[in-house]
Amino acid sequence: MEAIHTHRNNHKANSMARKIPNVFWLLILVFSCIILIGNTKASDGDAREAYIVYMGDLPKGDFSSPSLHTSMLQQVLGSNAPESLLYSYKKSFNGFVAMLTEEEKLRIAGMDGVVSVFSNERKQLHTTRSWDFIGFSQQVQRATIESDIVIGVFDTGIWPESDSFKDEGFGPPPSKWKGICQTASNFTCNNKIIGARFYRTDGLFKEDDLRSPRDTNGHGTHCASTAAGGLVAMASLYGFGKGTARGGVPGARIAVYKICWSDGCHDADILAAFDDAIADGVDIVSFSVGGTSINTFEPHNMYPMIYAGNAPNTTGNFTGLSSRFCSRNSLDANLVRGKIVLCDSLTNGRPPLVAGAAGVVMQDTSFQDYAFSFPLPATHVGVNDGSSISEYVNLTSNPTATIFKSYEANETLAPFVASFSSRGPNRITKDVLKPDLTAPGVDILAAWSLVSPVTRVKEDRRRVPYNIISGTSMSCPHASAVAAYIKSFNPSWSPAAIKSAMMTTAFPLSVATSPEAEFAYGAGHINPLKAVNPGLVYDSESIDYIKFLCGQGYSTKSLQLVSGDNSTCSGVINGTVWDLNLPSFALSTMSLKSFSQTFKRTITNVGLPSSTYKATVTAPQALKINVEPSVLTFTSLGQKLSFVVKVEGTIGRTVVSASLVWDDGTHRVRSPIVVYASS
Ligand SMILES: *[C@@H]1O[C@H](CO)[C@@H](O)[C@H](O)[C@H]1NC(C)=O
Ligand SMILES: *[C@@H]1O[C@H](CO)[C@@H](O)[C@H](O)[C@H]1NC(C)=O
Ligand SMILES: *[C@@H]1O[C@H](CO)[C@@H](O)[C@H](O)[C@H]1NC(C)=O
Ligand SMILES: *[C@@H]1O[C@H](CO)[C@@H](O)[C@H](O)[C@H]1NC(C)=O
Ligand SMILES: *[C@@H]1O[C@H](CO)[C@@H](O)[C@H](O)[C@H]1NC(C)=O
Ligand SMILES: *[C@@H]1O[C@H](CO)[C@@H](O)[C@H](O)[C@H]1NC(C)=O
Ligand SMILES: *[C@@H]1O[C@H](CO)[C@@H](O)[C@H](O)[C@H]1NC(C)=O
Repeated sequence: MEAIHTHRNNHKANSMARKIPNVFWLLILVFSCIILIGNTKASDGDAREAYIVYMGDLPKGDFSSPSLHTSMLQQVLGSNAPESLLYSYKKSFNGFVAMLTEEEKLRIAGMDGVVSVFSNERKQLHTTRSWDFIGFSQQVQRATIESDIVIGVFDTGIWPESDSFKDEGFGPPPSKWKGICQTASNFTCNNKIIGARFYRTDGLFKEDDLRSPRDTNGHGTHCASTAAGGLVAMASLYGFGKGTARGGVPGARIAVYKICWSDGCHDADILAAFDDAIADGVDIVSFSVGGTSINTFEPHNMYPMIYAGNAPNTTGNFTGLSSRFCSRNSLDANLVRGKIVLCDSLTNGRPPLVAGAAGVVMQDTSFQDYAFSFPLPATHVGVNDGSSISEYVNLTSNPTATIFKSYEANETLAPFVASFSSRGPNRITKDVLKPDLTAPGVDILAAWSLVSPVTRVKEDRRRVPYNIISGTSMSCPHASAVAAYIKSFNPSWSPAAIKSAMMTTAFPLSVATSPEAEFAYGAGHINPLKAVNPGLVYDSESIDYIKFLCGQGYSTKSLQLVSGDNSTCSGVINGTVWDLNLPSFALSTMSLKSFSQTFKRTITNVGLPSSTYKATVTAPQALKINVEPSVLTFTSLGQKLSFVVKVEGTIGRTVVSASLVWDDGTHRVRSPIVVYASS
């Protein structure tokens, strides 16, 4: 779901999403039927595709929606307006569906009263298809040198016998490879897993730790196969998410650096692994371990499960006979709080929500696309799956579950940023936007360790070769794989150029589903096919960071800790945070206080040798944004041109989002611009 916001109405969109979620999602449901009729594929050019223009509540009084909608369209399309209008909503809310080009969409999005404009692409969160979901099919073009790319996975190790790591068709490791394979404890490498090491610099192995790169947890195996696992047909977790499991770069090699143990991941081991990995010849490090944090794992994966029939609200005189259907007021809050509730019919999700449930699973035979309209994590399953879940709940003394929300029902709400995902702003350097971007991380099916329980709960006897888990660390291997994919086509690009390509081609998400806006999704949702050919990149090298760090007040001593060389702050031009050549723009300011800030940027042509890019700014009224020059003409590849962005205004609320797009008719190089009131 692509969304463009009119930031004038951001605030309204937020409160709206909270207030009337069902209507909001219903809009998408209605829309998903239209998609099947005549949708053209999203494109950069002039092709039109259907968009929903969402305008919030119906105005009071006598009001004709269709004529308002037609007149809005006329302002943009002139006499073509009537043909363009596909549908006017007029019962529960205000809005319409129209065929628009990208540019027309932007103009409509900027009109008064428009809350947001959604693309109608049908997306799925099916776990085995997270790559398809982001438009990255099995058939995408591959560079022959993909097999020279080595992804270093810093994690809990790997289960080398998994089908995902078979090395059929792989030649010997690339000649640059200098790593080793620590074969302790029956661990062997092959031409897919070309290196493996384990680190416990303090020597304090715990009882459960296997002194080997072998994964006894599952997490590392999962991340490695998401990034670079081979194609495995018919992979599933008990039938959920059945399909072909594959990594983003199935041709790439994997090098394993086991840094996490049963008591966590220690800095010393992490640094040791970095040290080795660089020398070994690793191209991309996939490292999904969070902050100062000891626990590698997302805590919210598994919830206890309870059958609604066993949790009647006796205060309200309900019995299991009615509570099993999760009808209104029927559940006992004390019994269901924090649990996933299994209901015997489709409900609107409210009763379990009101009773404090963490999620709901509904077994029913009716139309499955309802699943996304629930106010809490929910899934809707057919009777067959329903009865096996019932059986599980009934036969297990402490049943637990992940929220299988996207396996059996088609997930139309995606993508949005999951509640457990970390959020910005950047607490250290306020004027550098974080996060950079977002990637799939919910309900990801990938390979698993055969000695680790499916729930990672010790008492759970079930062992599976493929498992479904969620977390920021599931997003990470997606991003790593996309970086590897970009590098396989552009081997000489710097890390900054690769990151720029990923960010400027990401598609913006909806503030309605992710109210923290850029602080939830950064530049937006990763889009690998576009990222491989971004047109322009915001490149930078170490000297840019040295200037920046000196400007931030680093001493030569602390600078050298970061740079690892003899760099000093004397004699370099101190850089400001606003001039660091990032593909995003962030400004922290004070509410209701006027500001004016310039940002200098230099952009490198990696698209067509001669091309002319025009700047388009989308901004709410609160911001005045000027780009100088607003047209950049390149005459060769690798050419660098500079420009200045000036952002002025006064903001009255927390986060204000805008964007800058450089467009040459072929490439759209988009940067988020975020101004926020920091405390
Ligand atoms: C080593 O692993 C292989 C493959 O899983 C297995 O067949 C073999 O029995 C193992 N050997 C030992 C000594 O554990
Ligand atoms: C539940 O039943 C009892 C006994 O019949 C009655 O006194 C009470 O009012 C009922 N409570 C509710 C909420 O209906
Ligand atoms: C249980 O029933 C009582 C009485 O009808 C009601 O006030 C209460 O909200 C119900 N609890 C839940 C969680 O629905
Ligand atoms: C659980 O088992 C009991 C006893 O066999 C049965 O009556 C009940 O219907 C079962 N519940 C579910 C949800 O399968
Ligand atoms: C989900 O969508 C796909 C294609 O859009 C369709 O083939 C499939 O039947 C749908 N599944 C369900 C459960 O509706
Ligand atoms: C850069 O800033 C540092 C303080 O952070 C200052 O000591 C130094 O003189 C500055 N250098 C230049 C060239 O302005
Ligand atoms: C750093 O300085 C030392 C001593 O002056 C010198 O030997 C070394 O080559 C320098 N390293 C770099 C990277 O310039």
